[in-house]
Amino acid sequence: MAASLTKENFFWHKVHSLTGIVPVGFYMLQHLSLNSFSIAGPEKFNGVIDFFESLPKHILLALEVGAIWLPLLFHAVYGLFIVNRGKPNYFGTRFGWSQNRMYLLQRISGMFLFVFLAYHVYTTTITKYLGAGAESIKFDAWHTKLTSFGYIFTIVYMLGILAASYHLAYGIWNFCIRWGITISDRAQERVQKFSLGLFVAVTLLGWGALAGFIIRKPMGTTAAAQTPVLTQASVRS
Ligand code: HEM
Ligand code: HEM
Repeated sequence: MAASLTKENFFWHKVHSLTGIVPVGFYMLQHLSLNSFSIAGPEKFNGVIDFFESLPKHILLALEVGAIWLPLLFHAVYGLFIVNRGKPNYFGTRFGWSQNRMYLLQRISGMFLFVFLAYHVYTTTITKYLGAGAESIKFDAWHTKLTSFGYIFTIVYMLGILAASYHLAYGIWNFCIRWGITISDRAQERVQKFSLGLFVAVTLLGWGALAGFIIRKPMGTTAAAQTPVLTQASVRS
């Protein structure tokens, strides 16, 4: 680890590293798994939203603030600080320059994720709390969003998912080295294979969720879904 890190930075760097795995990484895996209920159709996906909406408001808010927003906000802001500081915390491994390139890609994906998540959280949870209600995050709203304006939001979401799954998968590999879980070259190689598999699996899971919103027929219950001019699917049918 870079010798120039002060004790305090060392501590916060460790907290940053840990928050990437738990809760943020864990949250993303369960989030994409639940979103992939879209493949089973609007009723199943809306069932997931209804479940969270049925929780007592103070419990839902406490969960969101404590388990998602604060850890993610800390990880994101401290992550930008690490990128800006420009001191690669590079570990000497036999993976050489390709390791450097993958490390750089993780920083780039982190910066992209910052913008993507600011947009995503604003247009989902925050918009819902600002008065749009749960309908704004249900199946029909997703169908409309993803099929409108030449599928531009589908592309944005595909990129967001790609960046997030790469960031997490490479992060797990780096995390195992940072915390002394993988020490030998053989162990590092094994985790690298696992990370590659995870990267492919999580990307497909997220893209599958998007495909579900596009392919499955909306229920036609929200105002958004009934706006034919915005819905290319409705133009086709
Ligand atoms: C298939 C793609 C995605 C879909 C359909 C989707 C769907 C949603 C929905 C419906 C919400 C609102 C939840 C609520 O307020 O009850 C939400 C919030 C959120 N999403 Fe996503 N999401 C996707 C991808 C991602 C990715 C890749 C991340 C990266 C970690 C992410 C992180 C978040 C976060 C942090 C929130 C705010 C959580 C909260 O306050 O409850 N999402 N998303
Ligand atoms: C929101 C914007 C984000 C930014 C700016 C960001 C930034 C960063 C940076 C710069 C690193 C490398 C730290 C280092 O050099 O030591 C990192 C590591 C990591 N991030 Fe993120 N990140 C973001 C979101 C996420 C998300 C959504 C996840 C989970 C899906 C995540 C999971 C991780 C993991 C697991 C690591 C590895 C920790 C380690 O190196 O020990 N990050 N992040």
